[in-house]
Amino acid sequence: MNDPSTIRRLYGRRSGHKLRQGQEALLERLLPALEVPKDGPVTSEALFGDSRPIHFEIGFGSGEHLAWRADLLPDHGFIGCEPFLNGVVGALQHIRDQRLANVRLHMGDALDVLERVPDGALTMVYLLHPDPWPKARHAKRRMVNPGPLDLIAAKLRPGGEFRLGTDDPTYCRWSMMVMNGRRDFEWLAESAKDFLTRPGGWPETRYEAKARRKGHEVWYFRYRRVA
Ligand SMILES: C[S@@+](CC[C@H](N)C(=O)[O-])C[C@H]1O[C@@H](n2cnc3c(N)ncnc32)[C@H](O)[C@@H]1O
Repeated sequence: MNDPSTIRRLYGRRSGHKLRQGQEALLERLLPALEVPKDGPVTSEALFGDSRPIHFEIGFGSGEHLAWRADLLPDHGFIGCEPFLNGVVGALQHIRDQRLANVRLHMGDALDVLERVPDGALTMVYLLHPDPWPKARHAKRRMVNPGPLDLIAAKLRPGGEFRLGTDDPTYCRWSMMVMNGRRDFEWLAESAKDFLTRPGGWPETRYEAKARRKGHEVWYFRYRRVA
């Protein structure tokens, strides 16, 4: 991915507060059983042993959205990627508590896994409250940029959906500008209400709840992949 409008590098925290003993044990016991394999194509067959619709979440934070969606759709497969260790532990707790058998995790850069997904294999991609990088000089770090979007577009099946949420006004405007310039995505909003109110099947994330508490507006974007 060598386009000059995108920087392909992981920024941000990899870990936060020290893990408690139980969390360490969960990480050691459960993560290896659920991890996306290190090599080879990332397919439904390789991950779940059958052919099922696959959903992909980029930067799942503590995993509450991932777990909620996986619980809602037990016959679908979910891949969640997040480099933040404490977030991965949070997701493992949800997976354990909700007894979810349809989630696989990657602790690291989502784009490394996305590249290994066959083209047209994904049903949905979620990007919720991506790091905003509000300064103009950091714009190339944003996930909403041609490099990552080309990859997302390639991996989504025609008719598949890309969901993007943000509470950052700069990111909101930026995303509308970038996405409106793309022919491979159709914005599913028919009126302002469609992106100002939470669509059905889109649970609140921890980050979003925090943003709401601070009085921020939140924008919900749904795009259909068109051929
Ligand atoms: C602002 S947080 C939002 C977390 C979560 N989606 C939510 O709404 O609560 C952004 C997350 O994206 C993750 N992230 C940043 N770059 C990433 C990448 N290349 N691949 C996967 N996750 C990434 C960060 O570690 C962080 O947890």
